[in-house]
Amino acid sequence: MNIIKRECDIIIFGGHGDLAFRKLMPAVCHLYNDEYIDEKSRIITISRKSISLKEHKKLVKEKLIEFLPKDEFDEEKFKNFEKQLEFCKIDFDDESNYKNLKKILDIYAHGDRVYYFSTSSDFYGKICKSLHVNKLITKNSRVVLEKPIGLNLQSSQAINEEVLRYFKEEQIFRIDHYLGKDTVQNILALRFSNRIFMPLWDASNIDHVQITVAESVGVEGRAGYYDEYGALRDMIQNHLMQLLCLIAMEPPCSLQANNVRDEKVKVLKSLRLMTSTDIETKTVRAQYIKGQSEGEIVPGYSENIENSSTETFAALRVDIDNWRWNGVPFYIRSGKRMRRRNSEIVIQFKSVPYSIFHNNGACISENKLVITLQPNESIQLELMNKIPGLSEHMRLQKVALELNNPINHKRKSSAYERLLLDVIRDNATLFMRLDEVEAAWKWADKIIEGWSDNLTPLRTYTAGTDGPSASIELIARDGRSWHDECC
Ligand code: BG6
Repeated sequence: MNIIKRECDIIIFGGHGDLAFRKLMPAVCHLYNDEYIDEKSRIITISRKSISLKEHKKLVKEKLIEFLPKDEFDEEKFKNFEKQLEFCKIDFDDESNYKNLKKILDIYAHGDRVYYFSTSSDFYGKICKSLHVNKLITKNSRVVLEKPIGLNLQSSQAINEEVLRYFKEEQIFRIDHYLGKDTVQNILALRFSNRIFMPLWDASNIDHVQITVAESVGVEGRAGYYDEYGALRDMIQNHLMQLLCLIAMEPPCSLQANNVRDEKVKVLKSLRLMTSTDIETKTVRAQYIKGQSEGEIVPGYSENIENSSTETFAALRVDIDNWRWNGVPFYIRSGKRMRRRNSEIVIQFKSVPYSIFHNNGACISENKLVITLQPNESIQLELMNKIPGLSEHMRLQKVALELNNPINHKRKSSAYERLLLDVIRDNATLFMRLDEVEAAWKWADKIIEGWSDNLTPLRTYTAGTDGPSASIELIARDGRSWHDECC
């Protein structure tokens, strides 16, 4: 494969934060080592800390050793990589601080810049204005905005408006790292390059869809951020909604960014807005209490943050009001401190209209397409098959057809690596357009409002379990069960 090396400066605001060290720096380091970016590209960390460049480089090295997968840190390669590293102390409230950044950026004339905002979205407008005032926005500049943008539709609109004063929509890359995961992109390949699914992918053949993103970790060192956002804003409004869109969207006319985004936005606009009764009956919110996670006793959420009503778990029944999905519920749930890390999408097909098999009284399982994103990526199609042998009545068993990609390629690229490279290449297909973000907030806002009016109680669940029993009841009311309850 021919790799085109790019000249592109990557400027990371919030560059000493958790995301920057855990995900962004390892991703940039790989892109540099794999020669996607060349020597005229600087990786400029912006932080409020007073620290020398030498100390910064030492810190980056320590963090790479900590966060790169085992055996991936290469001392020799780091010696080259560190030459690209720069550090700039900036206080966001002081526009004059940007002069130092200008000095570094002006060394090369390419003007190709990726400004990555890994800060609270409250700062986005302020940073954009300072970049503008200091003439740092070139025509080849792009800006990457981390989610969640704002706390609701209104605040999100205000932030986006501020950014749009200085950057054009085509220059804005609203990132959702779930879209960079290989298996998530494979949903497009699976759906739109295999004819067999085409006639089956609708309300006449699909009974329901489940989307689960369960994490065994808690809020780690991000309690301050998380307590303001909770599971609905941190995970569901963005990651789970994007997964839902990829499952529910119509075929786009090409993979060109706006064609894909047009189809996703149609799904988001078709989400049924919840009424008060829906919020009571179709939503569950809960917070974890002390329990055992991965063999260790862990404190409850409120033991660290007192009097918090933030949900660490949410489960919802989502309805899509359009021709394809009329009457097909999408059950979605996400939580922290769950029994195990498990992210999966289950498409459950309807049962056969009539069974001609005795099957010893056992029922015939409905076909399921199970797309697992984490911890291991896989795609399985569950089918019924004959049990070999001479039994009097033909007996059946459930078997899984594995559609896994052969794992023969060298290192697996991370979601952030892929997405950063897309920004460098100016390809916005896997990024969210303004109208997508707004449509997702419009839907989420109804639930946020209903929860703040206490239309459904904040329940508890023991850390290390599958969440509150109300989540099981939510789906059981419709005569269904979560996929992991039945296996
Ligand atoms: C982030 C959330 O966007 O995604 C975190 O802010 C969450 O709270 C993380 O832990 C999960 O990402 P992944 O890729 O580990 O599933």
